[in-house]
Amino acid sequence: MAKPSLPGAKRRGRPPQNPWVTALSLAQTVSDQYALTEAEQSLAFKTALVLRRGAIIVELGVMYGRTAIILASAAKLTGAHYHGIDNFKMGSSLAEVEANLTKLDLQGQIHRGDTYTIRWSKPIDYLLIDAGHDEMNMRQDTARWLPLINPGGLVLFHAYNPDIDFTDPHFPVKRYADERTLGWTQIAYIPNLLIKQKPLT
Ligand SMILES: C[S@@+](CC[C@H](N)C(=O)[O-])C[C@H]1O[C@@H](n2cnc3c(N)ncnc32)[C@H](O)[C@@H]1O
Repeated sequence: MAKPSLPGAKRRGRPPQNPWVTALSLAQTVSDQYALTEAEQSLAFKTALVLRRGAIIVELGVMYGRTAIILASAAKLTGAHYHGIDNFKMGSSLAEVEANLTKLDLQGQIHRGDTYTIRWSKPIDYLLIDAGHDEMNMRQDTARWLPLINPGGLVLFHAYNPDIDFTDPHFPVKRYADERTLGWTQIAYIPNLLIKQKPLT
């Protein structure tokens, strides 16, 4: 028997979904190989929500696009623009990532090429560095991309760990993040993800 409705009761519908839960469920439709963890993606998502309309998000290292979906979901809410850069030498492909974004009704531009040689000159508001974590890649990526961040803009270093020494394969992430963002403000740190803000002046 149907339940009698109480006078004045609102019609029941589905409660609106939390934007993070929606973004995560979309991201979970693609492979998580080498992707940021859920905790890291949650922090990256929340941080991207502070961006203004028209802000530029760049992710170096897209792989299957799991974090691309998270950041493009945040961009959809704020009016920012997502760009992902990858040479696609590790198994995924530009066509696959583009098709996934389209299928999920997300906007974003994916660029194929090496992070240190691809043509790019636009100022950036939010940069996620997650391509090669070795000495050569980190040296070149930080030299090339950090100067493109706008004053007050953000950089996220994936695979950053403050407690490792030079014997750890991710030591170059720590080394170049520390050396090349001296004087920047630390916004957040959780294991493997450091977020810093470039000074305003
Ligand atoms: C750790 S995975 C990226 C994972 C992605 N950020 C995510 O969370 O889903 C690293 C990616 O960087 C790419 N990559 C590594 N070195 C690169 C380079 N020098 N230029 C462009 N892409 C590079 C690899 O092809 C790979 O897809």
